[in-house]
Amino acid sequence: MAPLIYAHRGASAHCPENTMEAFRLARKQRADGIELDVQLTRDGEPVVIHDHTLNRTTDGSGPVSEYTCRELQRFSAGAWFHPLFQQARIPTLEEVCAYLAPTSMRLIVELKNFFLPQADLEEKVVELLRAYGLSERTIISSFNFDSLLRIKELDDRLATALLYVGNLQDPWEIASRYQAQELHAPREAVTSSLIKKAHRRGFPVVAWTVNAAPHLREVFAMKVDGVITNYPLRARKIREKKRKG
Ligand code: G3P
Ligand code: CA
Repeated sequence: MAPLIYAHRGASAHCPENTMEAFRLARKQRADGIELDVQLTRDGEPVVIHDHTLNRTTDGSGPVSEYTCRELQRFSAGAWFHPLFQQARIPTLEEVCAYLAPTSMRLIVELKNFFLPQADLEEKVVELLRAYGLSERTIISSFNFDSLLRIKELDDRLATALLYVGNLQDPWEIASRYQAQELHAPREAVTSSLIKKAHRRGFPVVAWTVNAAPHLREVFAMKVDGVITNYPLRARKIREKKRKG
């Protein structure tokens, strides 16, 4: 099967990351799916933003967890990127689910709960995915492996991915221990040997974050199962060229 192309935080090379604008562009560029980051607001709403503070990607400041969902809507999540995106807002996960539901796009939800605990984030995410009929085409990833186990307790049909950094020797062993179905490996750690060994043990490998054309070509040649990239259109063109031989 051809490698899947996931738009990292949406088509984030050309739109502000983790905004509806970036997700719409990813769809327009015919990415197979999107990757996004989720954490909770003060009033417990799952929202889509990478950092634990507003400082880098909005015109607000301070911790995400100190604002209600409604208060967060005051801030632009796009002005930092380009004045044309002044209107972009921090989306709720529900808004993204509603957008994806009528499409066939896949979804990777990264739970941002490694550095900061997020009470009941797993329950809320599982519930939203069910409500919008997205459970079958979603993979939940996290650097917090206990959180992956919690997802399985809530719904063992949901696929999870061991998201890791560095050169783990036997990532499949950790994945098995935490009942994860996929390995989301840093690009630098992806080799033909890692992929072969993972496949032998039944684990697909998705590489993150693969942006440069030579890197995309390299991991496609290694028969990676998917890439998470800021450049879905570039990745698709390279994949098509490879398919045509
Ligand atoms: O999905 C992998 C990647 O998104 C993890 O890193 O920092 O971009 O969330 P980060
Ligand atoms: Ca992420």
